[in-house]
Amino acid sequence: MEKTFAIIKPDAFAAGHAGKILARIYSEGFEVIGLKKLYMSKVEAEGFYYVHKERPFFGELTDFMSSGPCVVMALESNNAIMKWRDLMGATNPADAGAGTLRREFGTSIGENATHGSDAPETAAFELGYFFSGMELL
Ligand code: RTP
Ligand code: MG
Repeated sequence: MEKTFAIIKPDAFAAGHAGKILARIYSEGFEVIGLKKLYMSKVEAEGFYYVHKERPFFGELTDFMSSGPCVVMALESNNAIMKWRDLMGATNPADAGAGTLRREFGTSIGENATHGSDAPETAAFELGYFFSGMELL
């Protein structure tokens, strides 16, 4: 079994899509081992997305991620990292395949409804950024 880190981003949470996204997570066979709603500060969003700090969209991205509450989750399944990225779809909702979460709930390349770790090392960093060991029992 593998763990990954996922976010229902502020756009999807504000639009009331958290329940539908969570239902999809369960129906696709993930176990939800950690889940909480939080409201990231700008500094917390900058720390989370530090790998993108030189990218032109960093300011816009961290403004968006700190614009409202979101839901952070630790998901477990076989091949969880790739499986969750597949369920999310492409970064740009316009390019995301039919049936993916970003296709259904995303509205632009920036406001794309969900986040997912892209590799085992990033999953470890991101899970540790938001969850303590005791929160993932
Ligand atoms: P994420 O990290 O959120 O799961 O998304 P991702 O791997 O599919 O995409 P990544 O390249 O890591 O970009 C992180 C987030 O930055 C925003 N973005 N905006 N305006 C733009 O051109 C642009 N490009 C990326 C998106 O919110 C993307 O999910
Ligand atoms: Mg990414």
